[in-house]
Amino acid sequence: MSAFTDAQTRDYYESYSDVYALIWSQQMHTGYFDRPKNLETACADMNHYLAAVAEITAGSSVLNVGCGRGGTDRFLARQFDASVTGIDISQRQLEEASREAKQAGLDKAIRYEYGLMTALPAADASFDYVWVQEALFHCHDKNQAVREFHRVLKPGGRAIIEDTVLLHPAAKAEVMAAFGERVFINSLSTSAEYEEAFLAAGFRLVTKNDLTDHLASTYRAIADYIAANIQELKQKIDQKYWPTLENDGGRERTLKLVEEDKLGCVCLVFEKS
Ligand SMILES: C[S@@+](CC[C@H](N)C(=O)[O-])C[C@H]1O[C@@H](n2cnc3c(N)ncnc32)[C@H](O)[C@@H]1O
Repeated sequence: MSAFTDAQTRDYYESYSDVYALIWSQQMHTGYFDRPKNLETACADMNHYLAAVAEITAGSSVLNVGCGRGGTDRFLARQFDASVTGIDISQRQLEEASREAKQAGLDKAIRYEYGLMTALPAADASFDYVWVQEALFHCHDKNQAVREFHRVLKPGGRAIIEDTVLLHPAAKAEVMAAFGERVFINSLSTSAEYEEAFLAAGFRLVTKNDLTDHLASTYRAIADYIAANIQELKQKIDQKYWPTLENDGGRERTLKLVEEDKLGCVCLVFEKS
C-alpha cells in the first residue's frame, strides 16, 4: 500500500478546489438528507445537526480543523456569535475562506491560519470547541491529531467529529483500494478506533450517531452532478486528476461499499475531562 504524505493531501485539495466549489459550493462534507433536497442545503443542515448534537453555546470559541472553504465557520459565527479560527493544510482553501468571510462582513469573527492538525497553531486550553468535519480521515497520524485536539481545548471543552469511517475491519483492503487511495488516505479508522484514541488522550465520549445513510445520499448526489457536468469540471482541474472524474472515477464502487455497510459516516462528540 502507498504511504501518502501531507504534501500529496495538500496538492489534491489545492488542485481540486474549483471542482469542489462547483460540486459542493461553500463546504465539502456529508449532507443531512432527512428528505429529498439539494447537496448545498443538505450540507448546511448537517451543520445545524452537529451544532445541536454538540450543544454549541452562544459566544463560544471554536477551532475548525481542516476548515476548507469556510462555510461552516460562517455558519458558526452567524448562528452562535462564535469567534472562529479555521486552520487548513491548503493555502488555497484558506484564501477562499478568508475572502468569503470578508465579503460576508464576518472577518472580525473569523480568522484563518495555515496549519496541520498534528501540530495545531494554537495555545494550550484556548478553545471551547474543536470542530473536525470530514477532515480527520485525511490525517496521516490520527492519534497525534487527537492529542492536539485535547491540548488546545479548555477543561470541559468538546471535540465534534463528523467523519468517514471504516465499518468493518475485515473490509479494510477493499475499502482502501476503492476509496482510500483515490483521496490519498493511508489508513481509515473505525468508529471504535476513534473512540479508543480519544479515550487514551483524556476525553470521555458524550454522543455517537451513525450517519451512513446520509453518506450514501451524498455520494449519489455527487455522482449525478459529476456525470452531468464532466466536461466543465475537467477544465477546472489538472490533467493528472482527470481519471478521478472520467468513467465514473470509481464512485459507483465506493457507493456500493456504503450500501454494503463497509464504508460509513459517524458523528462523535467527546468532552475533555
Ligand atoms: C473534505 S474537506 C472538509 C472541509 C471542511 N471541514 C468542510 O466540511 O467543508 C477536508 C479538508 O481537510 C484539510 N486537511 C487535510 N489534511 C489536513 C491536515 N493534516 N491538517 C489540516 N487540514 C487538513 C483539507 O485541505 C481539506 O480542506
